[in-house]
Amino acid sequence: MTDALLLETREGDKTAAWWRQAAVYQIYPRSFADANGDGLGDIPGILSRVDYLADLGIDAVWLSPFYPSELADGGYDVADYRNVDPRLGTLEDFDAMVEALHARGIRVVVDIVPNHTSDQHAWFQEALAAGRGSAARERYIFREGEGPDGSEPPADWVSTFGGPAWHRVADGQWYFHHFATEQPDLNWDNPEVRADFVKTLRFWSDRGVDGFRIDVAHMLTKDFAEKLPTSAELDLIPKDGNHPLIDRDDVHEIYAEWRQVFNSYDPPRTAVAEAWVAADRVPKYASPESLGQSFNFDLLEADFDAPEFRRIVTENLALAATSGSSSTWVLSNHDVVRHATRYGIPVAQDSDAPTRHGGQWLLDGGDESVLDREKGARRATAATLFLLGLPGSTYLYQGEELGLHEVAAIPAEDRQDPTFFRTGGEEIGRDGCRVPLPWSADGDSFGFGSAGAHLPQPAWFADYSADAEASDPSSTLSLYREALRLRHPLQTGETLEWIETGRADVLRFARPNGWQVVTNFGAEAFDLGADAADVVLSSRALEGSALPGEATAWIAPAGLLG
Ligand code: NOJ
Repeated sequence: MTDALLLETREGDKTAAWWRQAAVYQIYPRSFADANGDGLGDIPGILSRVDYLADLGIDAVWLSPFYPSELADGGYDVADYRNVDPRLGTLEDFDAMVEALHARGIRVVVDIVPNHTSDQHAWFQEALAAGRGSAARERYIFREGEGPDGSEPPADWVSTFGGPAWHRVADGQWYFHHFATEQPDLNWDNPEVRADFVKTLRFWSDRGVDGFRIDVAHMLTKDFAEKLPTSAELDLIPKDGNHPLIDRDDVHEIYAEWRQVFNSYDPPRTAVAEAWVAADRVPKYASPESLGQSFNFDLLEADFDAPEFRRIVTENLALAATSGSSSTWVLSNHDVVRHATRYGIPVAQDSDAPTRHGGQWLLDGGDESVLDREKGARRATAATLFLLGLPGSTYLYQGEELGLHEVAAIPAEDRQDPTFFRTGGEEIGRDGCRVPLPWSADGDSFGFGSAGAHLPQPAWFADYSADAEASDPSSTLSLYREALRLRHPLQTGETLEWIETGRADVLRFARPNGWQVVTNFGAEAFDLGADAADVVLSSRALEGSALPGEATAWIAPAGLLG
C-alpha cells in the first residue's frame, strides 16, 4: 500500500482499505460494561463507554457475539443470528451504538458463528420435533448410531471441548457437534443454510456494520462417508484440503459467495477468518476472493523471545504478501491466558505441549505465587508496542490496555466455560480472561454495573481500574493511548526492514518512512546512542540513552510527527 493511499484512508476514511493497518479492539460484550444492572454487560454499556473507546484511539471494535443465546459457550451458541440478546439490549440499542461509534470514526466488526447454531435455535428445535428423515434434520448433521440397536455413537470422535462429539436425541438418532452438545454443527451442503447466512450478512451490513470476524472459518464444510473413520484414523488424514472435517478446499465456495455480498456495499464490508490452519493454507482465507484477511495466532503461542518473534513476523509478512492481504497480530483474546500473565509465569518445559502457553499453569491450579506480575506487565507492554509498530492490523483484547492479568482463582461453582464441565474440571478453561472489567477502584463490581459481575472479580482488580489509570500518566492505559495516538501519524507502507543490533535478544526494525521500533527482550540495557534523542515513546523510561530490559522504544526522526 502506498503512503498516499494510506493518507487518504486516514483523512477521508473513505477508501476500502481502512482495515489493512487498523488497531482493532475486541469487546467481549457480556464482560465490558453493564448498563441495566443485571450482572451481564450489554450494548447500552458499550454505548456509555464510547468516549473511553474514542480516547483510547482505536480504529475499530470487534464485538464477540451479542445475539440471543443460552450461554452454553459464552454466546458462541447463537439462537437467533439477526437479533440482540434481550439481556444485552435491542436492535435499536445496537443501531445507537453503531451510530455513536461511527460518529467518532470507530468502525464496527461483528462476530459471525456459521459452523454451528445453539440447540435453542428455531431450526434445531424444529429438527428435534420433525424427526428422522425430515427436511429440518437436513440442516444439521444427523445419523443413525452403530451397533444392533444404534445405541453406539456413529464414531468415537472427541469434541474440541472434551467429551464425545456425537449426541443422541430422544428418537435415537445422533447429531454431530464439534464443540459443546448445545452447539449442533450445521450442514453446509444444504442450500437453505447458505442462503440464510447471506441474509444474516446483509442484515448486519445494512445496519452499518463494517466487517465480520468469522468463527472457526475452516470448519464449515464436511464430507461424511458412509462409514465414518475412527478418531485415530481421522488424526492420520492429511489436512490438505480434502480432510473430512477441517480446512476443506470447498469451504472457499461459500466465501466466494460472501465476497460478492461484501463487495456489493460501499465501502466493501471486510472479513477476518478465525482459521487454525497450517501456514501454507492461510492465504486461501486471506485472499481478496475469499474473506480477505485471516488471523495469525503465532504470537499467541510464542514465548517472549527475540528470535521467535523475528521469525514469526518475517514469515507472516511474506505469507500476507502472497495473498495481497495484510498481516494480523494478536497477543490476547477471549480464548487464551492474558499475555501479561503468560509472560510472568515460568515457561512450561515441554515446548510441544498444547497447554504450554499459560494453559499448563492453569492446569496446575493457576498458582499466583509463581506469577511475577511486574515482569509480566513489563514484557506485555514491550510486546504490545512491538506489535503496534508492525505493518498490518493489530487486534487488542479488552482489559489488556489496563494491564489486566488472568484471574486464575475462580471457584468451580462460578465457572462458565464448557471446557471446564466437559473435562470434569480437569481443564479450567477460559473464564479467567473473561472476568468483567474494572472501571473504578471501588464501588459495586468496580464500576462494571450495579448488580455485581457474572464472573467474580478479585480484590486486586482495584489496582487496574480504568478511572485511576486514565489520570495516571505512568499507567498502562496512558501508554496504550499514547501509542495509538502516535500510530496514526507514524503509519506508513506495509513493509519493514530489520536492522541488526549485534544482540540476539534485541530486535530493531524500520518502516518505510523512517519510523523505528526497538525491543529489548533481554535483561541488560541496550544503548540507543544518538537515536535516544528521537525516542517518541517507550514502554519503560530510558536510562540516559539506554533502553532498559524488557522494553520497547519508538524512534521517529525529526519531522515525522509534523
Ligand atoms: C472460537 C471462539 O473464539 C471460541 O470462543 C468458541 O468457543 C469456539 N470458536 C466455538 O464457537
